[in-house]
This record gives sequence, C-alpha cells and structure tokens, in this order.
Amino acid sequence: MKVLVLNGPNLNLLGQREPDIYGVASISELEKSVSSEAGKIGLDVSFRQTNSESELIDWIQEAFAAKTPVILNPAAFTHYSYALRDACAALTKSGVPLIEVHISNPHTREEFRQTSVISSVATGVIAGFGHSSYLLALRALANR
Ligand code: DQA
Repeated sequence: MKVLVLNGPNLNLLGQREPDIYGVASISELEKSVSSEAGKIGLDVSFRQTNSESELIDWIQEAFAAKTPVILNPAAFTHYSYALRDACAALTKSGVPLIEVHISNPHTREEFRQTSVISSVATGVIAGFGHSSYLLALRALANR
C-alpha cells in the first residue's frame, strides 16, 4: 500500500526550529525513521513538505484522484485553513484515510492551537508523541 506523508509550513526547519518543542532531529532524519518503520510493516511511503497552502491542497487532491492514504501534519494550517479542510474532507469522504499528526500536543499550548479545522474530517488524530506520532500513524493505517 502506498502512503503519502505530507508536512506543512515550517516543518522543513525541524531540528533548528524550537527544538524544545519539535525535537532535535531534522526532517530528513524524521523521513528516514518513518521509511524504516514503513519498510517493516510493508508500506510504500513518499514524503513531501511545503510552506505553501495551495501546494498542500494540490497534493491532497492528487491523493484523492489516486486514492492514496495520507499522513498529514498540517502545521499552522491546522488552525485556520478551511480550504485545506475541504480538500481533506473530499479525500476522507471518498473512503480514503487521512491521519492528522502533530509532533507536539497542540491542546497543551496556546489557545489558538487548540482549534483544529482538520480533525473533524480526518480519519484519526495522533498528537504529542514527538516524531513517533508519524510512526503511530503508519501503524494505524496498516491496521485498518
Ligand atoms: C504542529 C503544531 C502546530 O500548532 C504548529 O503550527 C506546527 C507544528 C506540530 O507538529 O506539533 O507547525 O503541527
């Protein structure tokens, strides 16, 4: 099974950006550990990161057309992007799973982070486990 792992804005700075919150590993280190876990459970993962809302929406639409399951860290778009939400809804309502992941637990942070416009159209949400959130999402997809 193919899986698309999509990372939103500022996640290209993993390892450098607020390491006390997001960890010291870079995005390529994160991708390596996700790839290795995916290999163990027989999933074929590909990775993309963008700082652009429109590009992220295009990728969700691509997953919709190809019926590819998605692991998505929408980053700050989580909290306000209705356009991204609509794209995610099209995907999940067509029966393709999308797992929303967060490295931190946004519910323990600033008030604006405590709203996700994505969660109610996601298949499930995994947050607060550091980079392991992505590994847990892989397991969740494989178990479906
Ligand atoms: C994040 C949490 C968001 O609030 C934040 O804007 C991010 C990362 C996380 O993975 O914990 O960029 O999605």
